[in-house]
Amino acid sequence: MKFFIDTADVGEIKKALALGLCDGVTTNPSLVAKTGRGFEDVLKEIVQLVPGPISAEVTATDYEGMLREGRHYAKFGEQVVIKVPLIVEGLRAVKTLTDEGTKVNVTLCFSPVQALLAAKAGATYISPFVGRLDDISQDGMAMVGDIVQIYRNYGFKTQVLVASVRHPVHVLEAAKLGADVATIPYSVIEQLAKHPLTDAGLKKFLADWEKVPKASK
Ligand code: E4P
Repeated sequence: MKFFIDTADVGEIKKALALGLCDGVTTNPSLVAKTGRGFEDVLKEIVQLVPGPISAEVTATDYEGMLREGRHYAKFGEQVVIKVPLIVEGLRAVKTLTDEGTKVNVTLCFSPVQALLAAKAGATYISPFVGRLDDISQDGMAMVGDIVQIYRNYGFKTQVLVASVRHPVHVLEAAKLGADVATIPYSVIEQLAKHPLTDAGLKKFLADWEKVPKASK
């Protein structure tokens, strides 16, 4: 499973790259707003840092506007993937951009049938939002399982990119279901590395090491 980092914060991207845990990046308007920077500056910087896929989201909601923004962002680098919302106009834009050779990530997916439509439109990635479904007492990972099964049934090439990841169990379940990608906040990447028995074991090893006679010089 590929690890994308879900952030527009260049500092976090650099930290994930240093760990070898940044196969790509996903941004969205809310993540960009948190940086306090202009999106084009941020995107230019990310393109310099990350060779893997970088999702840049359109904010237009009409077909022509999505195409205009998508074609513009696509010029920033060949690894730029255009992120389009899962609405009817968005599906039209997916088909056109895909036909033009631009990769598209269809975002704000909350049901397996929405994911089926995105695949039929030719999306490169589908982003099911698991955390936001869990937030309203629906089972986000069950949706991912259904999408994986449907895509396998028909051999769709669209990659399942698990989004709205909130904690390590989402990552575990995504991997068990065979999702292609999980896009993960940097804080969750650090949480994945942690285990209390690792910390306790390390503490004991270091304490015992103090009792070992040291070679005299
Ligand atoms: C990723 O593509 C999404 O924009 C992101 O994962 C949404 O996460 P959130 O539901 O935690 O805002």
